[in-house]
Amino acid sequence: MTPDLTTTYLGLRLRSPIVASASPLTSNLESLQELERHGIGAAVLPSLFEEQIEHEQIDVHELLEHQTHSFGEATTWFPELEDYSTGPEAYLEHLRQAKAALAIPVIASLNGVSPGGWLRYARLCEDAGADALELNVYAVETDVDVSAVDVEARTIRLVREVREAVSIPLAVKVGPFYTAFAHMAAQLSDAGADGLVLFNRFLQPDIDLETLEISPWLALSTPAELRLPLRWIAILRGRVRVSLAATTGVHDWQSALKLLLAGADVVMVASAALARGPSVMADLGAGLRTWMTEREYASVEQLKGSLSQASCPDPAAFERGNYMRALVSYAPSPEAGPTSTSNRGIER
Ligand SMILES: Cc1cc2nc3c(=O)[nH]c(=O)nc-3n(C[C@H](O)[C@H](O)[C@H](O)COP(=O)(O)O)c2cc1C
Repeated sequence: MTPDLTTTYLGLRLRSPIVASASPLTSNLESLQELERHGIGAAVLPSLFEEQIEHEQIDVHELLEHQTHSFGEATTWFPELEDYSTGPEAYLEHLRQAKAALAIPVIASLNGVSPGGWLRYARLCEDAGADALELNVYAVETDVDVSAVDVEARTIRLVREVREAVSIPLAVKVGPFYTAFAHMAAQLSDAGADGLVLFNRFLQPDIDLETLEISPWLALSTPAELRLPLRWIAILRGRVRVSLAATTGVHDWQSALKLLLAGADVVMVASAALARGPSVMADLGAGLRTWMTEREYASVEQLKGSLSQASCPDPAAFERGNYMRALVSYAPSPEAGPTSTSNRGIER
């Protein structure tokens, strides 16, 4: 029997847990349709930014340009900026067209941090047919007078405002840098989020030593980045009453499987599809099916969360104790030279 990949995310029934994350690939109809043909369960459109709405313009051109040139294979998959979402009206039109062209759910994305007039676009996305809304609260807090409590309160207020504005399901995409993330997750749930998307990647600027300028730097993710969402999804599964989406570092089906076992309802993918093309999505689905058949799992629902912290035979594996154990078990590799070591302990 073919394993059943269907999953429930934000109350939506999806045919697959593999979801296209917000990226230039979801900014154009052709690649969206191609992603759909490769079996994804849903697509998240690129974000409409608070700044874009307030000023009608955001300069992401340099970022995208830079990225295109730094990844040879990616070039074909990066549409030009004109095709990326550049203004609120164009955004809503893209959403309407995506809804008309695709059978899978389409999730609109808003990206901003402050409650304000721009949030009426949440309602406009709902009116344009979005099946759900993802609110990305990416921020870099640099004000020495603004405390963690202030930041959390502002974010919670924002989520409440969006929740009140729309009746479609709401997911909140957050970064990992909260002092007490489990508590923050519970607060987001209380404020009305139906799902959490873990985690935002923070794009760190670099210094160009030739021009002595600060350069924006957008690098695609690496598989090593998977561990952060993996741990937090495992910890939160069963502790907060929201759907959990994993994003960052999914480059193969094994990573997708690990996240589902940890407790993700869906696994989002951007970098792998940008680097290797939309067919990666089909590979991920096929890998999951093969593994499930071999292990006699009938459905994704059956395996979801079976290695979350709550279900795990060794719950401490996700906590501080594991850190200590990993450090203590660090051992030089027998075949390596005196300066080269491998960390066998962490991989156990
Ligand atoms: C070129 C590019 C553009 C992106 N644009 C958005 C965006 O508009 N909104 C958003 O929430 N995330 C955006 N992301 C982040 C991705 O949705 C995803 O969360 C992140 O890349 C981590 O997943 P990955 O490891 O599969 O790439 C973008 C990522 C890339 C590489």
